[in-house]
Amino acid sequence: MPESSVNFSGIHRTCKLVVLLCFLHISVTLIFYVRSLDISFAFPQRLQANRARSSESTTRGSRTSTANAGEDNYPDAENQPPAGVDATKHLEKCPETSPLLVGPLRIEFNSPISLDQTSKENPNLEPGGRYRPKDCVALQKVAIIIPFRNRDEHLKYWLYYLHPILQRQQIDYGVYIINQDGDVIFNRAKLLNVGYAEALKEYDYDCFVFSDVDLIPMDDRNTYRCFSQPRHLSVSMDKFGFRLPYNQYFGGVSSMSKEQYLKINGFPNNYWGWGGEDDDIYNRLASKDMSISRPSGVVGKCRMIRHERDKQNDPNPQRFDRIAHTRETMHKDGINSLSYKVVKKEREQLYTKITVDVGRP
Ligand code: BGC
Repeated sequence: MPESSVNFSGIHRTCKLVVLLCFLHISVTLIFYVRSLDISFAFPQRLQANRARSSESTTRGSRTSTANAGEDNYPDAENQPPAGVDATKHLEKCPETSPLLVGPLRIEFNSPISLDQTSKENPNLEPGGRYRPKDCVALQKVAIIIPFRNRDEHLKYWLYYLHPILQRQQIDYGVYIINQDGDVIFNRAKLLNVGYAEALKEYDYDCFVFSDVDLIPMDDRNTYRCFSQPRHLSVSMDKFGFRLPYNQYFGGVSSMSKEQYLKINGFPNNYWGWGGEDDDIYNRLASKDMSISRPSGVVGKCRMIRHERDKQNDPNPQRFDRIAHTRETMHKDGINSLSYKVVKKEREQLYTKITVDVGRP
């Protein structure tokens, strides 16, 4: 073989190797470049994780910065769905236990609360006190119903504490304040029935949380949602020395799916004044062989805002007699016999307030 031909083949081989190395280099660079774009069809899980991280940082801060307003819906502009496209279609279901929960909370009622400040701290709410997680599809649609009259100071604390908790719980929720019009004697259970009926006119809720306005959970692991059995959430109130006052107690905060609520024909409409209506609800559940689900005494701790008994809410002297006859009365007194008149509906940023005339005894 002539010497020149040997040299040529050596150069040829070296050139081939250099071209191969260049090709390899370009391929690797290209792969890293494409990955850095975070294209959702190529790397959906990664995108989900990024969004979760972004939302976590905005919800966990004790005083959420208003500078974040609107930013965490779609952190990367190119991933924004076109108008009219249902963004939830591309999202996965939220996990059974939210990764955003922090556990025990410090609850106190000494510092004054401003509604404006609470609105600023909850920039992801939609009008009417509506929210749904942006990073995943919530497992339940929950209407939170609060019977109400002249308790604006308590409501401010409730909204201040509960909105961030409910958002960390990754719930699709709406807050409904059911305000009894006029000054006739208060009827808590009837207002709860009204809340159920009115909330369903607004959205396809499948779960209902019934909460007194003065009760605040002390642990965000106490999830405001429904379970396979009706749930009693305020199991460990400071007012009762952090224990149940009696085993059948179902007052304060409770939750029921639509199905569970309808099975007992909703709540009684004829308990005027303080007491007994929650025991009637318990009797209804027991008569349908349902049991009560409860969080542990630690997770179920809650604080009540101290207050004097409201005017026009004296103890109902008929309550013992009524409770004794729940099984006979529950089929004709409940959601199937509910009548009321809506006087006013106000859609605020932090809640929907529905003022109703519930009649008189
Ligand atoms: C009343 C309930 C009340 C409970 C705790 C009972 O005697 O009937 O309505 O929730 O006491 O205060």
